[in-house]
Amino acid sequence: TGRVLLRFAPAGREHRVPPGVSVFDAASWNGIAIDSTCGGHGTCRKCKVRVSRGDTPITSHDRRTFSEGELAAGWRLACLVSARSDLDVEVPPLVTRPKAATVGVGRQVILRPAVQKRYLELDEPSLADQRTDLRRVLDAIDDLDLHPDLHALRRLPKVLRDNDFKVTAVVVDETLIDIEPGDTTAYRYGLAFDLGTTTVVATLLDLSTGTPCGVASMLNKQQPFGGDVITRISATMMDPDAGERLRTAAQATLAELADQVLAEAGVDPGTVYEVAIAGNATMVALLLGIDPEPLGVAPFVMAHDHFPVLPATEVGLRLHPGARVVLFPALGAYVGGDIVAGMLATGMDRDKRARLFVDVGTNCEIVLSDGERLVATAAPAGPAFEGGAIRRGMRAADGAIEVVKLGETVQLGVIGDVAPMGLCGSGLVDAVAELVRVGLLDASGRFVPDEVAPAIAPTLADRLSKVGQERVFILHRPTPDAPTEDCVFLSQRDIRELQFAKAAIATGWALLCEEIGLAPGDIQQVLLAGSFGSYLSPAAAIRIGLVPKLSVLRIVSAGNVAGEGAKMVLLSSRERAGADALLEEVHYVELSDRADFNDRFVEQLAFPG
Ligand code: FES
Repeated sequence: TGRVLLRFAPAGREHRVPPGVSVFDAASWNGIAIDSTCGGHGTCRKCKVRVSRGDTPITSHDRRTFSEGELAAGWRLACLVSARSDLDVEVPPLVTRPKAATVGVGRQVILRPAVQKRYLELDEPSLADQRTDLRRVLDAIDDLDLHPDLHALRRLPKVLRDNDFKVTAVVVDETLIDIEPGDTTAYRYGLAFDLGTTTVVATLLDLSTGTPCGVASMLNKQQPFGGDVITRISATMMDPDAGERLRTAAQATLAELADQVLAEAGVDPGTVYEVAIAGNATMVALLLGIDPEPLGVAPFVMAHDHFPVLPATEVGLRLHPGARVVLFPALGAYVGGDIVAGMLATGMDRDKRARLFVDVGTNCEIVLSDGERLVATAAPAGPAFEGGAIRRGMRAADGAIEVVKLGETVQLGVIGDVAPMGLCGSGLVDAVAELVRVGLLDASGRFVPDEVAPAIAPTLADRLSKVGQERVFILHRPTPDAPTEDCVFLSQRDIRELQFAKAAIATGWALLCEEIGLAPGDIQQVLLAGSFGSYLSPAAAIRIGLVPKLSVLRIVSAGNVAGEGAKMVLLSSRERAGADALLEEVHYVELSDRADFNDRFVEQLAFPG
């Protein structure tokens, strides 16, 4: 695939990265810190490394930084070396060790936020020193190449003079966005959003330490327009005003969550300077007021796969006036920025192991890596996992059965510890997996005949019943003599729905395995992601064939990785570059135009047991 090999000394580590990546980024992505105060912008000249093997051109910045002898010995500025061939790189000891934080699935992020603060004690102007106010500030920050925004210029004269020229400069990337009175370096925050179709999660991050200072979540206020992306896209097609109402609803969701986390943490909104949002392609289009219609119909084309950096006010957030919003790029209409964020948080492109990432939902996104190449696809799993199309299905809320264990009797884990009212996705998967395990469901997904059930599971057989013509298994009977219709049960058709959903997913990963030439049994780790996938029992997922048949220890619940990815880009501008690089590397595989898709799908309907 043309990756290049970088060998770092004295860390003694090797990493393969896409050609063209800067040595600074490659080191940073792998947790190797190189000195820097500009964060990789080529202006601080602190990121000195020695390339001891391999060719790298000499830039004008290198010439201004190093002597002829040093250049000949291979000394370069790491952020300006793009790795085009295999290189050996010596990293000198750090002058100051940057802080690091653990984010996502064990990712070590070296803190290099785009948001920086510098406390300055400036010389007061005199007739002998008539430099402009701005020049005075810029001269004091000579490691960055800064440009002011209008807000900063407006504030500059008064804030400098009211504070005896003791001020804090607020910088985002290379823009000076504010001058604050006195020393405010301790107050520097960012907001990370996981903008889900169902649930939206906000995390407030202290950018100086990488610590989350508050988390809040709520249902997306777009819910009344429909539970999934397709119904929301349809809404915009039927009603010309719906797009604007959906945009307002998304903005209101973000704003309410922001207010909540800020209030709970006691943080001034004016000290939040950057926002990162991870959402699927439809959620992002609706938030930005981009017509989502082409996303909903073949050939499923996005308006664009990268989004400009926007003022926070464009998404309805009232934070610092210079606060900006960074959105994740998307791979395709059905593998959106939320999945790119998830890949970043799980380090899908930075691990030598063969790994499978599955975000289980109505639309299921699947990514496979053999440690070198990355392939991705989307599988339409349908609403079963959200409790939709299931007779006693419900969302994962109070009263939902989320765990099912069959032994002598039926043991249920119910959300909120209340009487069971229905089944959520993980409960559904558990129930089916347990019925397969005890033998009341055969491999084809049919309940065994009534007459053989008592021999198979004597204490459970009487729970097999009928509602109308349909066979059901009773999970919970509210009162001893309640009729079957009033019970929480699993029906034959429910099981069929689950089979369709899991077969779509299994076909997806099976075809990706073929694409990359990997046997499913060789996968070393499966990451179950998303608001539903994280709650799935690994054993049940294996038993129904939702994931390859592997040791249960290889199946990992990855949690809310989209939100973790959003945190990572706030903590390090290098991780943002990483998200872009990731996109270049992933090959998207379209399943729907494969001639063998249907045959493969039918093969995957059975339960492997
Ligand atoms: Fe600042 Fe390279 S990181 S010049």
